Amino acid sequence: MSATYTLDTATSRANPTPAPMKRLTVPAIRARKVDGVTAEPIVVLTAYTARQAQLLDPHCDMLLVGDSLGQVIYGLPSSVPVTLEMMEAHGAAVVRGSYHSVVIVDMPFGSYEGSPAQAFESASRLLKATGAAAVKLEGGAAMAETIAFLCQRGIPVCAHVGLTPQAVNVLGGYGPRGRDTAEASKILDDAHAVADAGCFAMVIEGVIEPVAARITAAVPCPTIGIGASPQCDGQVLVTDDLLGLFERTPRFVKRYADLAATIGEAAAAYAAEVRARSFPGAAQLYEPKK
Ligand code: KIV
Repeated sequence: MSATYTLDTATSRANPTPAPMKRLTVPAIRARKVDGVTAEPIVVLTAYTARQAQLLDPHCDMLLVGDSLGQVIYGLPSSVPVTLEMMEAHGAAVVRGSYHSVVIVDMPFGSYEGSPAQAFESASRLLKATGAAAVKLEGGAAMAETIAFLCQRGIPVCAHVGLTPQAVNVLGGYGPRGRDTAEASKILDDAHAVADAGCFAMVIEGVIEPVAARITAAVPCPTIGIGASPQCDGQVLVTDDLLGLFERTPRFVKRYADLAATIGEAAAAYAAEVRARSFPGAAQLYEPKK
């Protein structure tokens, strides 16, 4: 069972908070969009660890424990091999490191597509193990029955339409979707289907801008764009991308920092000092008792 923790940055230890702190809720996020208008855009970033969550939490409305952790944390070739156990461990860490944002945990490939009952078993397991407030699953019309099943049984669902990375083996890559009329209209139908099924929000990923804008205008729930449109009701990015931790910057990412260079410089400086025997220096040594 998960609790809310504060991370003591002096000791790197997580301590249960004496009284539960007030977190944003799923209904509060859903209520941001009123009559098709979201006055205050919804800020979402991915988080995978407690410390990362702690740093991002004050700036975000929602933290997404994305199955992108497969590539970002585990160096896997895609999100396909990601397991429920991985999502449980990282989801619980992110809940421990945050107190303000709604935490959403991705349902990994193979944990929900079989049937609504399979999805309920996996989603309830994720919520119990992590303390997160909601799950996200990929797919449009084909997932509508499952989304309705979960919502009617107390599990808030964030849908995910457009480019759905778990389907990479069907799609053949991660290129943008909706470039031809048939595909654009299928994505619109998908968005309507998941909205009608009761999702509280939907991620629109890797979709040409006019399609993302049309969906946003058409559905009652907030849309969260990634490689989509500034018209979306909110935006999400993979945190490690915006921090510049990878060499490749996809078109839809803006780098807000260059942490790869900073980390490389720090490691190089440490290595040079170790080799020169100038680290540890006097300031890092324990003195004998006087
Ligand atoms: O897994 C993930 O990080 C995601 C976002 C890219 C939306 O699904």
